Amino acid sequence: MITVAREHVGSDYMAWAKTSSHARFNLSTSGLANVRLEELNVELHDLELTRDGGYGYEPLQNALAARLGVGRESIVTAIGTSLANHLAMAAVVNPGDEVLIEQPTYEPLLALARYLGANVKRFSRRFDSDFRVLPEEVERNITSRTRLIVLTNMHNPTGVLITQETLREVGELAKRKGARVLVDEVYLEALFAERPATAFTLGPEFVTTSSLTKAFGLSGIRCGWIVAEPELARAIWRLNDLFGVMPAHPAERLSVIALNQLDAIGARAEARLTKNRIRVYDFLDSREDLEAVRPDFGTIVFPRLQQGSADIFCKLLREKYETSVVPGSFFELPNHFRVGFGNDPDMLQEGLVRLGAALDEMC
Ligand SMILES: Cc1ncc(COP(=O)(O)O)c(C=O)c1O
Repeated sequence: MITVAREHVGSDYMAWAKTSSHARFNLSTSGLANVRLEELNVELHDLELTRDGGYGYEPLQNALAARLGVGRESIVTAIGTSLANHLAMAAVVNPGDEVLIEQPTYEPLLALARYLGANVKRFSRRFDSDFRVLPEEVERNITSRTRLIVLTNMHNPTGVLITQETLREVGELAKRKGARVLVDEVYLEALFAERPATAFTLGPEFVTTSSLTKAFGLSGIRCGWIVAEPELARAIWRLNDLFGVMPAHPAERLSVIALNQLDAIGARAEARLTKNRIRVYDFLDSREDLEAVRPDFGTIVFPRLQQGSADIFCKLLREKYETSVVPGSFFELPNHFRVGFGNDPDMLQEGLVRLGAALDEMC
């Protein structure tokens, strides 16, 4: 019999997101609603199919370097934050190396570390500490074998922001062990003008990843990147050679065009998030059966059910009330569910009404 190699490899969360998260009232997405091509100021003659080879498209490297305030030689472009994470982790971690990952976290990061053959260790971000990263918790779990610490900022699933001071402390802990810190900053973009500098600027032990996907509704152009010290960035470009000869050049062109329009796209996104967040928090205030940490920024919140299983609740919500949220079991916290509020305000409003009705039915 012919068997499938690596049959067990993949992300349960991603498979669910692609096949089972759709609903009439979709509160499961963590990004802004998709920008349509006609909303981008783009002409056909701005595009081209193919470019000469080489590492990186110069106008895109320059636009990202200017936006991030780092040297071009530290930037590696990638197909979304997803491939950026893969490349960054694979360039730093050898099979058997210890990787210390926050818990809860974005499940594909965990699946990726396991796929790379890492020895995965965890440190907790707890509800009763407002899901903050506590450097003492990192210190308790780091060992001399730790090669990489993995964080998301803002945190997926809770939306909590890590302060620069905490990042600095984690960087110090890593440095002492000769480890690096990978910070997935895809949600940091949703701080818009308030966005702090990428953690890479705190020291060469940091490697950061991001994209235009979440905060700007630009998932389709797959504009992702890694920021790393130049020697590591070169190694990542070489590793990327295994994944393809050349990126889709129309997407590179569209990325440059989008980066030039980001202030306007971001202003619309921020206005929507600010309004929608108030609606969601008003809803949470009205429910005694839910408790939640309420970040001031971001696109998501992660309430906890006082009673009952969130898996059963999410199933009822989707099947009877045509509304989807993400079950907390994908983030190893089965009493929680994640609500995203970057979508259309009317859809959100009706989704919240239905969420309330499903909660009432559960009681
Ligand atoms: C923390 C985190 N990183 C990466 C991704 C994927 O980003 P992209 O669409 O840019 O590949 C997601 C998507 O939900 C995410 O939550």
